[in-house]
Amino acid sequence: MAISSASLPAASNLRQMIQRSAKHAQTQVSLKQMVEFGSKPSPTTVLRATQFIHHELPIRIAKRVVELESLPYNLSSMSSIKTVTEWYHQSFADLASFPAPEQSGIPRKLLREQSFEKEDAKTAFEVRKIQRYCNPLEDQTALKEVNEYNAKFMECLEVIKRRHDPVALNMAQGIQELKDHWRATKSNPVLAASSRQMDMTARAFKRTHPSLYPSQLLKNPDAAANLLPTDLQSFLDRFYMSRIGIRMLIGQHVALTKASLGKSTFPADHVGIICTKTSIRDVVTQAYDNAIGVLQNASGVLNPPQIKLYIGSSTCAKNDVNFMYVPSHLHHCLFELFKNSLRATVERYGTDADGEYPPIKVVVAEGNEDITIKISDEGGGIRRSGLPLIWTYLYTTAEKQELESNLYNDFRAPMAGFGYGLPLSRLYSRYWGGDLRVISMEGFGTDAYVHLNRLSNCDEPLPS
Ligand SMILES: Nc1ncnc2c1ncn2[C@@H]1O[C@H](COP(=O)(O)OP(=O)(O)OP(=O)(O)O)[C@@H](O)[C@H]1O
Ligand SMILES: [Mg+2]
Repeated sequence: MAISSASLPAASNLRQMIQRSAKHAQTQVSLKQMVEFGSKPSPTTVLRATQFIHHELPIRIAKRVVELESLPYNLSSMSSIKTVTEWYHQSFADLASFPAPEQSGIPRKLLREQSFEKEDAKTAFEVRKIQRYCNPLEDQTALKEVNEYNAKFMECLEVIKRRHDPVALNMAQGIQELKDHWRATKSNPVLAASSRQMDMTARAFKRTHPSLYPSQLLKNPDAAANLLPTDLQSFLDRFYMSRIGIRMLIGQHVALTKASLGKSTFPADHVGIICTKTSIRDVVTQAYDNAIGVLQNASGVLNPPQIKLYIGSSTCAKNDVNFMYVPSHLHHCLFELFKNSLRATVERYGTDADGEYPPIKVVVAEGNEDITIKISDEGGGIRRSGLPLIWTYLYTTAEKQELESNLYNDFRAPMAGFGYGLPLSRLYSRYWGGDLRVISMEGFGTDAYVHLNRLSNCDEPLPS
């Protein structure tokens, strides 16, 4: 069977297809479903997942294209944002020109019959029925065709994933371009609203500026200069949450396909990129070590703050807690939090205090619903009025970093300076039904709480 891409739809057709797809509902998936579905990936199960992803990804991508093209404050016309929009267009086109399993010559009896439109993720990932009809493992011709099709689709997904690697960098650049434009033209809408607010009651102001009203912060001109209008902030939250979901689907599908083709095997306790027994101790230790590496590169400190790790309650100390999760997602959050704590501690005590820093305490508590990781530092804390700012994209008190290739790789960030660490980490923890909270004691230190949903049954919180 030769799988050749259908010819690329003409630009106007593509536009219509995107508009149509963007109106469809997305299908959310939970961690539990992914694990149940992918534990023994055979060519048939992967084919069925391919059917689901071939249907689902264009919808998710189309929604982002439509939003990227109609952003407020003229953000859509910033050159870096245009580049990102083109990548999303191109990826939609790649999927649109890849023949659906139904059009690829694969025997129909191997395919599911209903459409995905009216069903939930549970049925989308249901595999047993199809295996009863036909097992391609017993039919060598069908097996070859299915494997070939799955492999080609995997290649298509890998190209898409690579294309989107620099998206975070480009989005940050786009926001920076907008902020520079506001500065040059003295037209920052938050600052303008901030000065206008002085003459109005809070209620009247909220009525006239619904998207620019981040509570009391506007009264503080320093804070206002750093804020993004709330509609931009929530666009970025939606955009990155969707990106996490798309990359999760692709990453998992590529891993399952490779395993079904015999090109790789999962490490023990893994289902694709999900680990059913993620070791909190291992991920904490690895994230801390990596953050120390970055700190030492940045500051030359030889004896950095130590880590004190407590797992379990004081009455029942444990060696470890294991649970089902995507270790790379947890690593992302913890790495960012450790970098922040290390930076605050070293800045407070100075590099001369090398070897005498207070430790960073990590407490892991295991409840029935949640596993919570608390990271406490004595880095001086954050002003209470500044706390809401820490969730603002591009807000940083560090020297601004040149937006360069560092952001290409989600796990090779510099010490600080992008103002992306906390907002992105919160999205990663919310993606699987958890949360991230930061509580500070100004003059002493900061506690960050990472809540992880151990029931693994939450659907992805996909933005519309
Ligand atoms: N543990 C902490 N102690 C003191 N201040 C903190 C702490 N964590 C965060 N902050 C403050 O919040 C700001 C935003 O943090 P965030 O991690 O989002 O960005 P950043 O560290 O500045 O840059 P990067 O995106 O590179 O991490 C920091 O610049 C710092 O002022
Ligand atoms: Mg940071």
